[in-house]
Amino acid sequence: MAGKMEPLPGTSDVWAPETAEWVKLENAAREVFSRYGYGELRTPIFERTAVFVRSIGDQTEVVQKEMYTFEDRGGRSLTLRPEGTAGVMRAIVNQGLAEGVEKRVFYMGPMFRGERPAAGRKRQFHQIGGEAVGRCSPVLDAECMAMLMHYLERIGVGQTRLLLNTRGTAEDRPAVCAGLADHFRPRIAEMCEDCQRRLETNVWRILDCKNEACRHGAATAPEIPGLLGETSRSFFAAVCRALDRLGVAYEADPKLVRGLDYYEHTVFEVVCDGENLGAQNAVAGGGRYRIELPGVKNAVPGVGFAAGVERLLLARGVLPGGEAMGLGEVDVYVAGLGEAGTVAGLELAQRLRRADWRVLAETEGRSLKAQLRTADKSGAGYVFILGEQELATGTVACKCLADSRQQVWKAEEAVECFRKWTKDI
Ligand code: HAM
Repeated sequence: MAGKMEPLPGTSDVWAPETAEWVKLENAAREVFSRYGYGELRTPIFERTAVFVRSIGDQTEVVQKEMYTFEDRGGRSLTLRPEGTAGVMRAIVNQGLAEGVEKRVFYMGPMFRGERPAAGRKRQFHQIGGEAVGRCSPVLDAECMAMLMHYLERIGVGQTRLLLNTRGTAEDRPAVCAGLADHFRPRIAEMCEDCQRRLETNVWRILDCKNEACRHGAATAPEIPGLLGETSRSFFAAVCRALDRLGVAYEADPKLVRGLDYYEHTVFEVVCDGENLGAQNAVAGGGRYRIELPGVKNAVPGVGFAAGVERLLLARGVLPGGEAMGLGEVDVYVAGLGEAGTVAGLELAQRLRRADWRVLAETEGRSLKAQLRTADKSGAGYVFILGEQELATGTVACKCLADSRQQVWKAEEAVECFRKWTKDI
């Protein structure tokens, strides 16, 4: 069977003990984000396609090339979520969001993008993200980045750099597009086909192209903050001042644009220079946005980020493809002979579990030899044995596998005696 039932390219099975590392990241997110007043939100994994197209932008790479879109039996166009922000906004607006009221939510879970799989680039990947929706303030942007950096510090992701830029607002867009188009037009013949199209449809994205010729063209492009009006520049200056005051280090990256169209003002990315990440070194990204939603008069403002769990794990040195454990770790194995011993063993196992021990119990009444082999493999430190003699005398035997010391107790007192015995050791 080996090799014939692999998960699809760009997807993975995650086994224990690696799953324990995922849980650590998820629980740390709950702990850190709750200190900033964020509550957890779980939105559906699929939504109407329009939810994403409208928010993310129909000219973006994600919408044009990467979404998993399908028609359901009712003929509706549905899409597996490629990111979290659009669904969060849909959910918030569905509940009703009064003007000026703030909502702070965080989320975690799988996202889906049909990208070419590579180390750190998956088709089903997982994000941990947060969104503060309803208000527009440079100080809020700084707090959002501070929370992200607090989280990364808490989970021990070091060697990070926070890259920061601004895209200005919708009013700045014509000037920025014109400035970038003026720069790229004379060079466009040498650039890739995608960028030739982008010149007309989404000139910002040329700055993000990984093609060598396009990067060469982008190197001398005008810096975005220099193309913005006074209001946007002063908003950005206020973000920087607040970050300085909070002691959050950042690097200005005047050509950072990010790939989703909903951003305005602040955009940021956290890259990690650790050795495991290679080219996919962006562990998190985010920014301020304003999203138009059907039935809502004014576009809704917000600021947020998402971190990629697979990349956070790589940054922490958790490499995929480690040991695949099909059983959880246990402290105790309960062996029972015959049907009576097996059932009595399971009853004892239940009492031990209620007393907080992690227990694996025999369920088939196999030979004692076979059961002791299983106990050994399970990693349990102790074995309880319910054989014929124990059943006849109403006792249980308990053996410490590390040093072979053994005890015999009355069955009904076994849990309490075991607790005392292990405490004394
Ligand atoms: P994004 O930059 O597209 O932003 O994704 C955020 C993070 O998700 C990336 O920095 C990366 O760590 C991870 N990621 C993205 N694509 C993949 C992939 N194919 N494989 C593995 N990891 C990946 C967003 O998704 C925005 N919704 C963030 C945001 C929230 N902006 C405002 N609020």
